[in-house]
Amino acid sequence: MLMFWRAAAVLSAAFLIGCGQGDERHHKYKIGVSVYQADDIYISEFREWMAASVKEKEAAYGVTIVMNVADAAGVQSLQNDQVDKFISQGYDVMCVNMVDRTAAAVIVDKAKLADIPVVFFNREPVQEDMARWSKVYYVGGKAEQSGVMQGEIIADLFQNHGELVDRNDDGVLQYVMLEGEPGHQDALLRTEYSIATLTRRGVRIEKLANDTGNWQRSQAKEKMSAWLAEFGGAIEVVFSNNDSMALGAVEALREKGYNLPDCDKQVIVIGVDAIKAAMEAICQGALYATVLNDAKSQAQGVIDIAYSVASTGEALSAVPGFDGKYLLLDYRPVMREDVKEN
Ligand code: GAL
Repeated sequence: MLMFWRAAAVLSAAFLIGCGQGDERHHKYKIGVSVYQADDIYISEFREWMAASVKEKEAAYGVTIVMNVADAAGVQSLQNDQVDKFISQGYDVMCVNMVDRTAAAVIVDKAKLADIPVVFFNREPVQEDMARWSKVYYVGGKAEQSGVMQGEIIADLFQNHGELVDRNDDGVLQYVMLEGEPGHQDALLRTEYSIATLTRRGVRIEKLANDTGNWQRSQAKEKMSAWLAEFGGAIEVVFSNNDSMALGAVEALREKGYNLPDCDKQVIVIGVDAIKAAMEAICQGALYATVLNDAKSQAQGVIDIAYSVASTGEALSAVPGFDGKYLLLDYRPVMREDVKEN
């Protein structure tokens, strides 16, 4: 009998310790993040929102969340290695901003084998890859909406204040298009829908030039300088797939005496993202407008889903619009009157 109780006591102590350890384990979550390129300004602001959201979750639930961010530096094989590391180190969930959005199958298969869910964000994997496993999610913006909004803003301006755009007064809008990375869903759809919207609104257009600036300010500045040398004052509007490139265009314009404060030589430049530097440029009047690519809500969505799946095994999000697999968020036009002057 005594033997029995001793054994029972040892067993229950072991059980208690086991429970204790289990509880401990479940109060700490490890999120592994890999971003395609850490020096991308929009992505760096997105990371800041992710970190803020992690802090909020820790405070709200009294848990510890370790979020480690790796920079894939534009190299897909490096990102695959980072994923391998997260898996071997027993991370609870991974958040991946693909370098090559067509190459997600490898990552999905590795994650599935290790049973570690993946929340992709900002660079949308193709549908076939998203369908390879149920614990794979995507958070991003409704890309075509951002193009439509750019088109609407410029059509409004052209139709209501033509004198500010149509500098040669020929009734046609002459434009150049700075495109993001080739193959990126946002670059393709913004380019297409901004122009389709102008046409739908009945604005007569003439494309002077288009080229990729790969989302980067310096590359966009170079393209814009070359276009200014070629077309000079004939460029009436610069459509840019993002703000960093729009700011590069503004730099090139300013070097040639355009878009300076209190100067009437103004070329209309429009971007997407609403990064901090773009808000300042809108305030100064150098950038006409942008479209908010809601990094705060998207980052909250990523962390919501990641935390939910890590802590309960189920993917839920408090950010409205999540269908259990995709969370696609709305864009919003940002005009000068929306930007608070500080
Ligand atoms: C886009 C954003 C760009 C760039 C890109 C990276 O959504 O507008 O500025 O950050 O994502 O994938």
